[in-house]
Amino acid sequence: MYGKLSVAAAEARKKAYAPYSGFKVGAALLTADGKIYSGCNIENSAFSPTVCAERVALFKAISEGERAFVAIAVAGGKERIAPTMPCGVCRQALAEFCNGDLKVISVSDESGNYTETTLGALLPNAFSEADFRG
Ligand code: THU
Repeated sequence: MYGKLSVAAAEARKKAYAPYSGFKVGAALLTADGKIYSGCNIENSAFSPTVCAERVALFKAISEGERAFVAIAVAGGKERIAPTMPCGVCRQALAEFCNGDLKVISVSDESGNYTETTLGALLPNAFSEADFRG
């Protein structure tokens, strides 16, 4: 089901710029109309400007006008791909545009095996500013 998306995440990982941690991540975000936006982590010598692969993929898509997403695949690891989940900041960034049924695909290995969960399972009770509007 998400084999092609997993391959796209693994391909994006090859472009990671991670000279400080050595931890390379690729992400591939699937839109409702079948397009794929990919991203890799981009580190910085000042550390805090570092951005994760998931947010690079998300922001590329948003900046192109995309608003509807069905799944994101993540492929991370140092020497080789090992199971990786989006960090808390990326979960919240995804929650700005996606509801809890967004599929989160974690690529497990170099063979393209993957596990599947949802944004709702990874970020229950996500903060939403709209919940506090009076
Ligand atoms: N990283 C990601 O790109 N995505 C994740 O889901 C986890 C962490 C990056 C940030 C940093 O460049 C490196 O992995 C180590 O934390």
